[in-house]
Amino acid sequence: MISNNLPDVKPEDLKQKPIERAETIPSSWYHSQAMFELEKEALFSSFWQLAGHESELAEAGDMHTLEVAENPLLLVRDQQDQINAFYNVCKHRGGPVAVKKGTTSVLQCQYHGWTYLLDGSLRGVPQFRKVDLFDKKDFGLEPVTKQNWEGLLFVSLDDDIQPISQFLDGIADQIAPIDISEFQFVEEQSYIINCNWKVYVDNFLEGYHIPIVHPELANLLDYREYKTDTSDWYSLQHSPFQDGDNLYKSDNGKAYYYYIFPNMMLNILPGRLQTNIIRPISPGTTEVIFKYYYKNPDDTEMIRDDIEYSDEIQQEDIEICELVQKGLKSKAYDKGRFSVEREQGVYHFQTLLKQELAKTLPIKQD
Ligand code: FES
Ligand SMILES: [Fe+2]
Repeated sequence: MISNNLPDVKPEDLKQKPIERAETIPSSWYHSQAMFELEKEALFSSFWQLAGHESELAEAGDMHTLEVAENPLLLVRDQQDQINAFYNVCKHRGGPVAVKKGTTSVLQCQYHGWTYLLDGSLRGVPQFRKVDLFDKKDFGLEPVTKQNWEGLLFVSLDDDIQPISQFLDGIADQIAPIDISEFQFVEEQSYIINCNWKVYVDNFLEGYHIPIVHPELANLLDYREYKTDTSDWYSLQHSPFQDGDNLYKSDNGKAYYYYIFPNMMLNILPGRLQTNIIRPISPGTTEVIFKYYYKNPDDTEMIRDDIEYSDEIQQEDIEICELVQKGLKSKAYDKGRFSVEREQGVYHFQTLLKQELAKTLPIKQD
């Protein structure tokens, strides 16, 4: 359902033009509350959302929570070895049945203690014997659509969505022989950033800023060979490493930076997958969740170096994103232009964004 308070979007703002002539999206989209609400419906409630990797739920009873478009959700592996996804909402009066991460044999509501089995069925209902016309079968946890792709777990609030394999078509072949389903979860980090979620996504989607914002990374990658390829629902930035010793050199591999519409990233380096989930909190605040998975989780030295290095790069990105958010909000700025050589990824994202908003907004296109 679309909110009544629609953002002020002009038909020309949704017009698609070739990158050579295209403008960036209007700056108001980066701080408008109405746009934030519209995106919740048109994007975050309508597309797949990355919910983790099966290695995070290795044993029966392992569970963790997440939030999608302000809906609390949980994933749990049951005794039949099935991974289930539910709304983390008790059918009594809406309490949470799971808190964060853990291992459990039943899900117990944190409010009045109703208990649910790991398949979502309601089991224990204290002090409810005098209640009439109450059948526990009608009060199981609400399931959420979920799919597994190469070991990664995706959920969607839209039951009619096309399969995740269609969205990600081609990726498994591109990264072969890397098989991310073999990787093991090692660590999670969360960053709260004072910028709109799209500022972070835009920034991720170009290597244009690397020489200025990340001079050290520029020495690691062969920037001249840095390329962006776009697909229907994802884009790929890839680059060979420079010659010489570096953290990732041992496999002589490449760096693949995938972006999946609207807010997910898979950063694949030899032996390592880092996922980023960009979770909007408010128009000007975003949580970025990094999860690290490794083929060889016992290589603690490499893992420590990798995580430390990623954190340094992330701090540089946070600093520039927060300054850009201020710039976009200033009176001085409305729309910019794209580098045809270096900003195809940003253009691709903003093209999809306009396309999806146009489907939802009651604006006549000419
Ligand atoms: S809200 Fe869950 S037991 Fe009351
Ligand atoms: Fe960056």
